[in-house]
Amino acid sequence: MSKQQSVWVSRPLFPEVLASLAQYVDVRVETREARRTPEQLRTKLVKVDGAIIGLGDRIDASVVAGNRRLKAIANLAVGYNNLDLEALTAAGIQATNTPDVLTQTTADYAWALLLAAARRVSSAERWLRAGRWRGGMRFDDWLGVDLYGKTLGILGMGRIGQAVARRASGFDMPVIYHNRSRLPEAVERECRARWVDKAQLLQHADHLVLVVPYTAQTHHAIGAAELAQMKRTAVLVNIARGGIVDDAALAVALREGRLAAAGLDVFEGEPALHPALRELESAVLSPHIASASADTRRAMAQLAADNLLAALGHGPDAGRPPSLLNPAVLGGR
Ligand code: DGY
Repeated sequence: MSKQQSVWVSRPLFPEVLASLAQYVDVRVETREARRTPEQLRTKLVKVDGAIIGLGDRIDASVVAGNRRLKAIANLAVGYNNLDLEALTAAGIQATNTPDVLTQTTADYAWALLLAAARRVSSAERWLRAGRWRGGMRFDDWLGVDLYGKTLGILGMGRIGQAVARRASGFDMPVIYHNRSRLPEAVERECRARWVDKAQLLQHADHLVLVVPYTAQTHHAIGAAELAQMKRTAVLVNIARGGIVDDAALAVALREGRLAAAGLDVFEGEPALHPALRELESAVLSPHIASASADTRRAMAQLAADNLLAALGHGPDAGRPPSLLNPAVLGGR
């Protein structure tokens, strides 16, 4: 049967997810990961009705200018700082993301980084693999910092921040948080979390997890001045976005021992890595994989596909994409 609509998938995706798309639309899928220029994205998008794209694909006004065919962009992530929502809305293009399905997996990963950085897991493993244990180990080697009973700070208390907070009770860690708006009291109680201003958060948190979205306001929210306010024994974890932390300033703070350790899943200008961070044993680094469990990545891909099909008028949610970011666009049609 000939399908009237075409979609472009900018990166290889699970076959079963592609098959669910192919029931309704013609699917053009890239077989390799690639960084594309705005012009390359423009050329791809002008030939299709919709697309599933990744965080590395930046869709702004220049990419969709003059595109009369494109109806929907499904982002394969909950964060959408790669999308210019205003431009998409002005162009009549629906934009969607993948909330909820990754909340618990991403919160788990914040704890994985926090524990690994606090207890120097990566560094100790490198030392062990290098055969250095045979040379002897002192009783006071590999001393980390404790989590149990310490105060956990969280910057950004959306769904993922709350999921990180809920896990803290198992470590008997009181939680303080800072967020633009305070959570309802019932949620604070359930998360055992107390709102504080940003300065108090920096000064009183024994360890700090960053879960804020990346915006112009959160660019370098943690820079030299903020790092200087934190405890020297603190671990900083960033599972949110590169650019929220000033990586150069963080590297200096770690090198000078003004911070115990850092667990970083995201970087300024990723996939590039600040050379100073690469050298630091006290930084646990991973390539933006906080949501990468088998179940969660499948669920994200399926949600992106469901969003796209719904935006193009197919499937059980036809006309009502489950996670539409710019509902105003529907009003205008
Ligand atoms: C997201 O969904 O925003 C994550 O950063 C991608 O794994």
